Amino acid sequence: MSVVFDLGAWSSARLSQVEQALDTWVTADAPLGLDHGAPAQLVEAMRYAVLDGGKRLRPLLVLAAHEAVSTAGANSAAAAMRAACAVELIHAYSLVHDDMPCMDNDVLRRGKPTVHVQFGEASALLAGDALQALAFELLTPMDGSVAPATQAHLCALLARSAGSAGMAGGQAIDLASVGHQLTERQLREMHQLKTGALLQGSVVMGAQCGEPTAQALAALQAYGGAIGLAFQVVDDILDVTADSTTLGKTAGKDAENDKPTYVSLMGLQASQAYAQELLAHAVAALDASGLTPAQTQALRALADMVVNRAS
Ligand code: IPE
Ligand code: IPE
Ligand code: MG
Ligand code: MG
Ligand code: MG
Repeated sequence: MSVVFDLGAWSSARLSQVEQALDTWVTADAPLGLDHGAPAQLVEAMRYAVLDGGKRLRPLLVLAAHEAVSTAGANSAAAAMRAACAVELIHAYSLVHDDMPCMDNDVLRRGKPTVHVQFGEASALLAGDALQALAFELLTPMDGSVAPATQAHLCALLARSAGSAGMAGGQAIDLASVGHQLTERQLREMHQLKTGALLQGSVVMGAQCGEPTAQALAALQAYGGAIGLAFQVVDDILDVTADSTTLGKTAGKDAENDKPTYVSLMGLQASQAYAQELLAHAVAALDASGLTPAQTQALRALADMVVNRAS
């Protein structure tokens, strides 16, 4: 008899741990034993950007991938929680900068005024910068809780996902594409970089905190690639189909800013069908992972949530 997996129950325990960890780590406390901490106003903007909001999908992917491949009794939970929070800090920073007038010029995020509206543009820029730096500080604790080789590996994966061959590169293509019609291939590459890279990176970082076989790692990489792209396809769809209250951000912004999206390229129905196709790819990758259904059930449920979410 198969028991239906309860994603809500699985997530809620982990979400409260992530929330608590972020609350602890995004503070003005002096790091590294220095006798002075960060300026209060900058930390206030950082905390505003990170705490009390967001689906926390990326941290959940890190934790689910880690749990899928971690061996009983392994001492890797600390690394996985740090990785989970580090990717959320990078994501939060990317949102702060994405909303600025020089990028998408948005005033609403996670149901609140955007960081630059609340604190000013210079503070938003610096809060983003500082969140990015903090992500790497989290991955490099000096208390012996994460093995040096794991620290280096996680830093390399996160840097690659966030940098010019990942999120920042995709955002550059996004801005250069305003007002242009892209081919399906160009649009896919843009979405894979600006959004897919960090989601795939979350899955791979979680896996690398555990002990994946080569087969499992390749499967999780393919799973992450499929849901990473699917996530942005659905983001494009929701921009058209959902309202601002449900989204917590301004609906209809892509058409207003003349952005090429899956909906503008192939229409709503074909975009929805494509998202379902990517979900099937993600599930097929898990089926080929050599992992048991019990090990992959959270990842399956998260993939379903990515594609069938309402916000
Ligand atoms: C929004 O990401 C930005 C994209 C990459 C499409 P999310 O939809 O995950 O935003 P939060 O974290 O839930 O606010
Ligand atoms: C954002 O894409 C991707 C990021 C790297 C932040 P969007 O510009 O579509 O994200 P939203 O719709 O503003 O959340
Ligand atoms: Mg954008
Ligand atoms: Mg935007
Ligand atoms: Mg969007």
